[in-house]
Amino acid sequence: MGEVRVSLADHSYTIYIQAAGLKQVGRLMQEMPFSKKALIVTDANVSPLYAGILADSVATAGFIPHILVVEPGEGSKSLATADKVFTKAISIGLDRRSPIIALGGGVIGDLAGFVAATYLRGVPFIQVPTTLLAQVDSSVGGKTAVNHPLGKNLIGAFYQPQLVMIDPLVLDTLPERELKAGLAEVIKYGVIADAGFFDYLTRHADMILKRNPGVLAEVISRCCQLKAAVVAQDERETSVRMILNFGHTIAHAVEGVGGYSEYNHGEAVAIGMYGAALLSSSLGLCSTAASTAVQQLLAAMGLPLTAPGYGINELLGYLARDKKVVDSKVNWVLMQDIGRVTITQDVSEEQIRVVMSQLTRTN
Ligand SMILES: NC(=O)c1ccc[n+]([C@@H]2O[C@H](COP(=O)([O-])OP(=O)(O)OC[C@H]3O[C@@H](n4cnc5c(N)ncnc54)[C@H](O)[C@@H]3O)[C@@H](O)[C@H]2O)c1
Ligand SMILES: [Zn+2]
Repeated sequence: MGEVRVSLADHSYTIYIQAAGLKQVGRLMQEMPFSKKALIVTDANVSPLYAGILADSVATAGFIPHILVVEPGEGSKSLATADKVFTKAISIGLDRRSPIIALGGGVIGDLAGFVAATYLRGVPFIQVPTTLLAQVDSSVGGKTAVNHPLGKNLIGAFYQPQLVMIDPLVLDTLPERELKAGLAEVIKYGVIADAGFFDYLTRHADMILKRNPGVLAEVISRCCQLKAAVVAQDERETSVRMILNFGHTIAHAVEGVGGYSEYNHGEAVAIGMYGAALLSSSLGLCSTAASTAVQQLLAAMGLPLTAPGYGINELLGYLARDKKVVDSKVNWVLMQDIGRVTITQDVSEEQIRVVMSQLTRTN
């Protein structure tokens, strides 16, 4: 169906977007210099749905698949769960050329990727993302991490996969709320880099929510192209890659205040993007029409815009702790128009407070 090439200095790879692509993974592995054993890491929701199909494909291609199933949820992005994956890898005798395959959402991709980056100083890594968020965002770009009790994603590595297989058909079983969470990141790509795509999303919102397979495949492929282009320019997030954090400064604060449970990441990003749009128009960086268009598309996709009742001071406290803060200045990614953003530190606390009061209003 589609292929997106991620071109990096010394480890380029291909993202395949194919209906029933799960069954193609083994065949594609045959083209790579892997040894026979492979470890599939998945979670207890995804395993009964898709681990058998993937393991069959891997076995039919002549490999020996082992499967490790972890608990679903963010709690598994921990050093304790990573240790279980290391133990499994050692006990089945994975060697330097044995691939670790992540089958699941962003939690599994980040966890398995972290293990692949560090086990034996790095073994081959394959991503088979099964949530929309993982398909359009976390499986592309090579960031891997686990969480620490003192903060999210604090322990990790940049580590690129050798192959990403996106099968849009697995989205059929994805819970509605998870689909919408992924759509927040999808909208983000339109806002930061592609007005035509933003327009496409606005016109196809209904079909997307009804999971029209052709439209979803088109959406996934555009997002992967956009992210791959940004990552190719700045693999390690020193400059242009920062635009991918649009909406995320406020989102991280919302997630923190909500204890990472009230809003999921995509919902927090939706609130953060609405906040960033309001901030952009109030600073005169973009028109009111542009920020209203963002608000309307988020609402059309059924995403939240505000976090009623959240404390402004508490949110501001989290802004200051965000790990993207350099020299105690927040790097704000703000809109100049749909499809165009800029990065600035020149935002006063007063201006942020005005936006926060709009985001936290209870009526
Ligand atoms: N590495 C990156 O660049 C990057 C980018 C964005 C987010 N992330 C990380 O991704 C994580 C969030 O990922 P997520 O939203 O995919 O969450 P997730 O991995 O927890 O998956 C969400 C839920 O959906 C279930 N699920 C997955 N696929 C399914 C399917 N096809 N059918 C039915 N159920 C399915 C999972 O079991 C889980 O309960 C966070 O930890 C975040 O930090 C990483
Ligand atoms: Zn995100």
